[in-house]
Amino acid sequence: MDAPLALASLVFRGDGTPYSPRHDDIYHSTAGALAQARHVFLKGNGLPARWRQRTHFTVLETGFGMGINFLATWDAWRSDPTRARQLHFVSMEKHPFSANDLCHAHAAIIDDAPLTPLADALSSAWPSLMPLMPGIHMLGFEQGAITLTLAFGDAGDYLPRLPDYGIRADAIYLDGFAPAKNPDMWTPGIFASLACIASDDATFATYTSAGSVKRALLQSGFEYRKVAGFGGKRAMLVGERAPHSAST
Ligand SMILES: C[S@@+](CC[C@H](N)C(=O)[O-])C[C@H]1O[C@@H](n2cnc3c(N)ncnc32)[C@H](O)[C@@H]1O
Repeated sequence: MDAPLALASLVFRGDGTPYSPRHDDIYHSTAGALAQARHVFLKGNGLPARWRQRTHFTVLETGFGMGINFLATWDAWRSDPTRARQLHFVSMEKHPFSANDLCHAHAAIIDDAPLTPLADALSSAWPSLMPLMPGIHMLGFEQGAITLTLAFGDAGDYLPRLPDYGIRADAIYLDGFAPAKNPDMWTPGIFASLACIASDDATFATYTSAGSVKRALLQSGFEYRKVAGFGGKRAMLVGERAPHSAST
């Protein structure tokens, strides 16, 4: 039988930014978690425009953390009258928070009133049977129009299996702590798996512009551009699947 997951600890630095002692890194920019989600991951993937007039749209994220990117995406989706009918958000998490800590984290971070009911709905639906075990949980929101597929376990184990579940990513959020702090989330193997899951016109965005990430992106068939980063970061990377690497 699988071992229970090692949960994340809810720790805040003196400036109020959530911090992971395990990875010695912060969960979000000190300049704001929601603003970072909107700038780096939504705008970086051309959202909401890219899901307009689509029936289904799938976002794939490498690390779920506190779900701030998910909540920002849900909020943008529900505010958009021409949104895709179905939004599928797929995310992996090796060290989930307990439902209680997730709720405390949201209370401390979310300062945007329309997101509060979404955060409450997420915390209420969050798997709560302890100990949390590796496995896939599917949560439904908005009368089933939004599906959150949460894969609890190592992204390196789950990513190669996602195509077997019929998952094709239209937008990829690369969010796994800094490459220097958590190299396991940025290996060539992770990028090769992402290339297999990416739809032909998939885009990606990430706050990092590390050289190792740029090389792994190119080797696995993505093209990248450096654009203005968020919260004092000069640059971040956005891009898409290179046309010649598109599947048939
Ligand atoms: C920067 S945080 C993500 C923040 C998050 N996207 C949000 O919106 O709140 C990175 C996350 O990746 C998770 N993580 C780190 N290594 C992982 C791995 N190998 N597999 C899956 N998740 C991992 C961490 O536990 C952490 O929650």
